[in-house]
Amino acid sequence: MGEVKKSSIGSSLNRVEGLPKVSGKSCYAADMNVPNQLFGGTVRTKLPRGRVRAVEFGKGIPWKEFTVVTAKDIPSKNAITCLIDDQPCLVDGNFQHAEEAVVLLAHPDRGMLQKGLANVIIHEEPLPAVLDLDEAADASQVIYGTDNNLKKFVIQKGDVDSVWSKAWKIVEGVYRTGAQEQMYIETNGMLAVASAKEGVTVWGSLQCPYYVHKALLGVFGFPPEKIRVVQLETGGGFGGKEDYPSLLAAHVALLALKSKKPVKMIYDRREDMAATTKRHPSRTKHRTAIDKDGKLLAMEIEFILDGGAYTTLSPVVVSRGGLHASGPYLCPNVRVKTRAVATNTPPHGAFRGFGAPQSLFAVERHMEKVARAAGLAPDEFRKRNLIKTGDATATGQIVRDCVNLQALLEKALAAANYHEKRERFARKNPTSKIKRGIGFSVFMHGAGFTGSGESYLASVAAVEAGADGKIHALASNTEIGQGKNTVFTQIVADALGVDPSLVVIDQPDTKFVPNSGPTVASRSTMIVGKLLQDAAIGLKQILLQGKYIRAGYSTKEFQTAAAKYVKQFGKLKTYAEFQLPAHIHWDDVNYEGDAYSTFAWAVYVSEVEVDTLTYEARVTDFVALQEIGRVVNPVLAAGQIEGGVTQGIGYALYENCVYKDGRMINNQMSNYIIPTAIDTPNIKVMFEEVPCPWGPGGAKGIGELPLDGPAPAILNAVENAIGVSVDILPATPEVIFQAMKNAQGGH
Ligand code: MOS
Repeated sequence: MGEVKKSSIGSSLNRVEGLPKVSGKSCYAADMNVPNQLFGGTVRTKLPRGRVRAVEFGKGIPWKEFTVVTAKDIPSKNAITCLIDDQPCLVDGNFQHAEEAVVLLAHPDRGMLQKGLANVIIHEEPLPAVLDLDEAADASQVIYGTDNNLKKFVIQKGDVDSVWSKAWKIVEGVYRTGAQEQMYIETNGMLAVASAKEGVTVWGSLQCPYYVHKALLGVFGFPPEKIRVVQLETGGGFGGKEDYPSLLAAHVALLALKSKKPVKMIYDRREDMAATTKRHPSRTKHRTAIDKDGKLLAMEIEFILDGGAYTTLSPVVVSRGGLHASGPYLCPNVRVKTRAVATNTPPHGAFRGFGAPQSLFAVERHMEKVARAAGLAPDEFRKRNLIKTGDATATGQIVRDCVNLQALLEKALAAANYHEKRERFARKNPTSKIKRGIGFSVFMHGAGFTGSGESYLASVAAVEAGADGKIHALASNTEIGQGKNTVFTQIVADALGVDPSLVVIDQPDTKFVPNSGPTVASRSTMIVGKLLQDAAIGLKQILLQGKYIRAGYSTKEFQTAAAKYVKQFGKLKTYAEFQLPAHIHWDDVNYEGDAYSTFAWAVYVSEVEVDTLTYEARVTDFVALQEIGRVVNPVLAAGQIEGGVTQGIGYALYENCVYKDGRMINNQMSNYIIPTAIDTPNIKVMFEEVPCPWGPGGAKGIGELPLDGPAPAILNAVENAIGVSVDILPATPEVIFQAMKNAQGGH
């Protein structure tokens, strides 16, 4: 081990689980096999809403060889514990969406399992269904509660209604976004063993071990210590493995309990795409008043998400969306009315950005229109209205971040050669079939759980020395490809003042790691990284104060001292628990106060070309500039941004979930189009580092930010290219064609 103890934060340490991943040694759910295991599968509803009249087991199948589970076999509650327990684990009578699980089967032979699944016939009786957001919102047909609302709340600042009569101009717009599939490379998969005596253990592909733990508690009614959840190597999540694994874990564990054998269930791509969560479709209406100087006077926003059939995470998704809906602007009067409504489609769930990509798309498209109405260039209009340090957001939060959005905007536009290109494209477009354009978006993303969420979570992380003096980091946060293992290693090594090779990241296993909360909300680095940093500093202090090491120690000396301490006392382990910074105040009822302890800020600039023969749009160049506090690992951080931007390009132009009668019908990688290398431009990633006082070494969260900005920047560029507003995502050739046709029709 080297004697150099320069700070590990800020260096591009190699991905610590990289070698096992590229050499095929990592164990994913599909790689895990145990003796006597059975394979599990699911029989699902086909209608969007109805009642199961009967379940028929077809002839010619050796049913005795199968384990069959229905709602009757659930030991405790037939509900998946989430925010509200309205989602059943298995259909028992009525159902609310297609692809809802009715019968589970397990069999030792995968081929026979498929035959069994094909021969269970669910006799369904239809009930009236609501299949889209508009219909759900007007509540002419009620399918959930009394008004189809899963959640609603209002943000108020100032007095919007007093402004309209005094406004110089009022600008209105409606913006729509579709569902989006997370398309992690590895589909959902789990393996379980279960017995009344030993309890339940599941191993699987998941983001949030303790969410799964909580859901299994509800379904099985076992004491907490008899439920164990272990995360295996996970091939991507993007939010798609935030809540759904709770349902799958319950299914596979029920089969294991009944069969008394280990059961493994791996979804194929079609099942994964059809049955599991996607990004919420949205509709946002904006009404904005400005004065003669192009200053914002009032913003009235109605933000509605389609939550699908059950509540799941929709209340918190719509909350984050609503809190980002007025964008990075200073406006004295704001009203944001938000709702998540129920429809008869599989529940929509978490997807990188968590409601913010929808509402930020709307506001950043809308600001482009308001700028035009004001007679100002898009950047000039932004500069007059961007929020500054010390200003109040829509919830009355005073921006404490030291952020200069005007300077960020200028820097990003210069890097993209924005003004020169805008002038050149305007000159050349009239004589070209390929129209080129350039546009940008300014946005922010709140890091960590919203409002008081982090205090409710009360996350705990720990570090512990092994008998060999290696230092283990214990947290329930999962590596899902984003680089958490590496970033945690750097943070702990930095806090201890040792080489990163002394640090071991333990597998998230609820039997051994404390609950440091879920791997969501761009919180792992900032919130949990800080806890690990605090715990590591505590551990170092014990060794320093006991004079096991003295200042100027080497990594080797530290290791030897830790081992000696463990030998002497049996244990060297320190914990840290989350404390909300004292200045954070949040009112959950009135949506007032500090929504996030900090924000990451960004300006993205996109160049596009639109082919006026095929109506295809393509992103040809991209600049992503962000202020994310201290960058812990530059290579991984840039990778996060490039990946997020690419997913954002897909969201903007290609990814189209097509539904028929409440079922996704293009549920294959061959007909659900995501960007490939050919569709991905050069992405210039730039960081502005303003250390954040709450994060370890000054770091903020960046996981979700890069998906917020691409779609509005791209559609602003499309408008610049063709002179027509396109306000629907994804902007497929059909959507662009329709917008251009409408524009020609004199609209
Ligand atoms: Mo996330 S989209 O907060 O898993």
